[in-house]
Amino acid sequence: MNIFTFFDYYHNKVELAFSSTPFSSRPRHVWVVCRYQSGWLLTQHSRRGLEFPGGKVEEGETAEDAAIREVWEETGGKVARLNHIGQYRVHGKAETVVKNIYFAQIKDIVKKQDYMETHGPVVLQSLPHNIKQDTSYSFIMKDEILPRTLTHLEKKKLLA
Ligand code: GTP
Repeated sequence: MNIFTFFDYYHNKVELAFSSTPFSSRPRHVWVVCRYQSGWLLTQHSRRGLEFPGGKVEEGETAEDAAIREVWEETGGKVARLNHIGQYRVHGKAETVVKNIYFAQIKDIVKKQDYMETHGPVVLQSLPHNIKQDTSYSFIMKDEILPRTLTHLEKKKLLA
């Protein structure tokens, strides 16, 4: 198994692998790269900025359930298909976080009143090349996770 190791925006060590459970069989977090038509569905997080939706797995929920719920809560997006593509581990200052990475095809975006801790959906035709320098993007979009995930999706021909 190939494990990529790098440092994130806050200089925390991150390990990434494109296999199902390299670090934990019960990850407590999920992150969902959402494809909508030929573009991308993100959420405008009220503190962090633009990011793909995600969050914590709740009590009694599977990580897949959490992925579908977080997409719905933060964007109103309905998941048509979900692929588990990898997992990463962040060695944070206070705690270690393990996150499953999913790829979701979104069939509809429903308008809602409440998007939890976000301002709701943002659809983009393409992702900018300079995300690292762009202050409108969340720190979680600014390390190696996003480009390596996009390369992986292309390699697996999931972006048709
Ligand atoms: P909320 O409960 O959503 O406010 O989150 P939190 O700030 O308590 O953080 P969380 O438990 O989600 O994560 C704890 C720490 O892990 C964060 O402060 C980050 O340093 C790190 N972390 C969490 N998710 C990611 C991620 O996707 N990428 C990176 N690089 N670090 C992350």
